[in-house]
Amino acid sequence: MSSPTMSEHPTDVVVVGAGVVGLSVAWRARTRYGLTVTVVDPAPGRGASHAAAGMLTPVSELQYGEESLLRLSIESARRYPEFAAELTEAADLPSGYHACGTIAVALDADDRAVLKDLHAYQQRLGLQSSWLTSRECRRLEPMLSPAITGGLHVEDDHQIDNRRLVAALLVACARAGVVFVRESVERILVAGERAHGVRTAGGRDLIADQVLLAAGCRSALVPGLPPEAIPPVRPVKGEILRLKVPPALLPLLSRNVRGVVKGGSMYLVPRADGELVIGATEHELGHDTEVTAGGVYELLRDAHELVPGITELPLVETLAGLRPGSPDNAPIIGRSALPGLVVATGHYRHGILLTPITADTVAEVLAHGTTPELVAPFGPDRFATAARKVMA
Ligand code: GLY
Repeated sequence: MSSPTMSEHPTDVVVVGAGVVGLSVAWRARTRYGLTVTVVDPAPGRGASHAAAGMLTPVSELQYGEESLLRLSIESARRYPEFAAELTEAADLPSGYHACGTIAVALDADDRAVLKDLHAYQQRLGLQSSWLTSRECRRLEPMLSPAITGGLHVEDDHQIDNRRLVAALLVACARAGVVFVRESVERILVAGERAHGVRTAGGRDLIADQVLLAAGCRSALVPGLPPEAIPPVRPVKGEILRLKVPPALLPLLSRNVRGVVKGGSMYLVPRADGELVIGATEHELGHDTEVTAGGVYELLRDAHELVPGITELPLVETLAGLRPGSPDNAPIIGRSALPGLVVATGHYRHGILLTPITADTVAEVLAHGTTPELVAPFGPDRFATAARKVMA
């Protein structure tokens, strides 16, 4: 093997991972703070960011006990229109942002009780959502099955076409002077107890003042880090389908549809261009990305219960992505235990939703070394603190 070569020009930041998180932070760090940035990834934008559905639905996907994550999600959703407009201008490409609203519907009486409880919880938190009868649901979305028993309308939960978002971020980064190195990272370089760059699989040493680890669920696998700096992320597999609505049938649906179907949940995300995304399964099977017949069956079966007409549509893609799960389902954002290493991972089911807030806050961490108050509860140190409490 040849000996490593050094990068000729040390950069301010080297970013490991070119998903929406790595790309958006790179773009912000470059354009807002003038930092020099190199992004390292063998296949930019092809991981979880490519597989995702792009739901921007903090209220309709609210989970019990996650109020602090909700605050972050709502703030990120609030920043989306401006973020998307800025990106469109910078890349001269559509960002895919679509303010369409979301309807969450229940199939049977038990599913209705689940959504009624969710509605009561949303009301207690002062969130905007309204309860609809089955007939009212179908007035909003006539293709819904008459069998549904009711639902919730959340007018402020929207969507973005995640693939357009990735494409726009890649162009905006390149235009801003972000450098791309299409290789995998062999290891993070540590010298004098500080991260100071990465060695690529091709044997190049990219030297940087700071390293941003934003490699999704692979963030825990990048060699070179002391144990206390490794973010506790794991892969959570999600199978997802893409169907195509022919122009004559558009719009089949006008807003996101979340469904509670016999106790399970799923979603349908319609795009204006006819793409219909149906997702997603959830399995903890390591790094397996096989699409199974069972996964496809389950998704189509439940989608058909809610919108019977979907079985007429061409199935154009089946895919499995790996969400970066964290121990408390919230992102891991901020300076790590290793000086010079900042992390932005663990976004689990909300990477696309949390992109604007992650970009803004992590770029600030990189530029000023200070952690914005909004993301202070999501620092990597919270797990070390929890471990210490268990040991005490
Ligand atoms: N955000 C939807 C999912 O993870 O399936």
